[in-house]
Parts: sequence; structure tokens; C-alpha cells
Amino acid sequence: MSRDNHRSNGPENDSPENAPACRTEFLMTSRRTFLKGAALLAPATLLTGGSLLAVPSSARAQPAAPKEPDTGSGPYLLPPLAYPFNALEPHIDGQTMQIHHDRHHTAYVKNLNEAVAKAPRLKGATPDALIRDLGTVPEAIRTAVRNNAGGHLNHTMFWAIMSPKGGGEPTGAIREAITGTFGSFAAFQTAFNDAGVKRFGSGWVWLVQTKAGKLEILTTPNQDSPLLAEYASYPILGNDVWEHAYYLKYQNRRPDYLKAWWNVVDWKAVNQRFAAAKAV
Ligand SMILES: [Fe+2]
Repeated sequence: MSRDNHRSNGPENDSPENAPACRTEFLMTSRRTFLKGAALLAPATLLTGGSLLAVPSSARAQPAAPKEPDTGSGPYLLPPLAYPFNALEPHIDGQTMQIHHDRHHTAYVKNLNEAVAKAPRLKGATPDALIRDLGTVPEAIRTAVRNNAGGHLNHTMFWAIMSPKGGGEPTGAIREAITGTFGSFAAFQTAFNDAGVKRFGSGWVWLVQTKAGKLEILTTPNQDSPLLAEYASYPILGNDVWEHAYYLKYQNRRPDYLKAWWNVVDWKAVNQRFAAAKAV
């Protein structure tokens, strides 16, 4: 399977129908700001006979109506964020979070829905099952499922392991496991960040639990999930090193993004995933 094939159906090529939705607090804040500004502006404009009244109403700027991200006909859905888009600032900016969630993740879900609709026998399959048993998915949609079920799973994890209350040292069982495997949290961070920097092109850097029950750092290209048979690992935490995850704020400085990301990692959520990994 070629890398080009992996990139087909990828959401980096956003289509107009995946334009950013405006249902979130980020844009609601902008809308409130707009309305407040308009209220302040209007009396002055009226008093001075300003030009606003001369502009046809059809030509005046209007706040955009809220719009839900279009993920197609289902059954797979875009999970909402548990925090506002700008909640992870200054480490991850609000605009990046909005585009990342509402455009990129939306596109993975929509593409997955479209692919699975072509194979009725897959009805009801979870994204995890599709990825773990990718070899049984009809060949005609296998690459689309690999990319888009992978993208859906990876991003669903990504939002859930970040929090505005995150950061700091690991806690609980994952702290002991990291220290026992890598020597210290600092040594683990350095190895993880180095692996993320060295991941050529688009992909992910992970802390996984292998089938043998060991913790390892892994990187995957494109939207490959560690759950794929060729990796056979459980993703405990992962950082998205596609440029869409950081370029607006960090441009080409992926190392700076990787370093800052630790400030939003939610160790409580990571411990829940670690417990789930043990149960596999
Ligand atoms: Fe992403």
C-alpha cells in the first residue's frame, strides 16, 4: 500500500463544504463582540448622519448563522470538545483548535461515513474494530477506512487527553510505569519529543503499550493508529505532529510545539487510558 494511497481522502485538502462551523464559544464570543460593537457604533453613526444608513441593508455585514460541522449521514459522529477552543492557550491557539476540530476531524468522520456506506456488512462496526480488523474490510474502501477511521480514533483520543487544567508531572500508575521504563519523566519527554521531531512528514508520536505489556515510544505516518495489526499496540497518549496541529502559532518550529504540548496533557485522562490498555 503506497503512501500516496494513504493520503487519498485526507482532510488536508479541505473542501468548501467543510468550512468552519460557528456553533462554538469561540465564534459566539466573536458574535457577541460584533453585536456589542454594533450597539456602540449605531448611535454615533445616527447622530452624525454617518454613512452606515446610506449602505443598503443587504450589503451590511451580518453575523454568520451558527452551523454544525457536516459529518454526513452517520453513523460516526464528531465528538464535541469538553472545553472552549481557546482554553488551551497560550500553548495551542484557539483558531488552530477550531480548524483542527471542526474542519479536519469533521472531514475524517465524513469520509469514514461515506466509505462504510459502500459496505453494508460493516454496519455497526466500531472505529476500533475497523482498524484492528482492517484486513477484513473490503479492499475497495480499505485505504479510506485506514486513513479516516484512524483519523477519527486518533483525534478523539487527542482532544480527550488535553485539558486547560493539564500539565505538570504525571500522576498515578502511569507515573510509576514511565519512571520504571524510561528512568524519569524528563528522560521520557526528551525521547518522545525527539521521536516527534524525527517523524518525517505528517504523522503521530505515541506512548503505547505493546502486546507484551511494555511501554514504548512509537511514531506512525499519516493517520495510522497503533491499533493496526502491524503495530499491535494500544495508544496510551499521542501527539499530532501534522502541520495542521501547530502551524498557525509555531510555523515550522515543531520542536517548540512538542515542548509546549506537555502543558496541556491531562494525566487523569492518560491514567484512564493506561488502565484500559491493561484490560486489553
Ligand atoms: Fe490532526
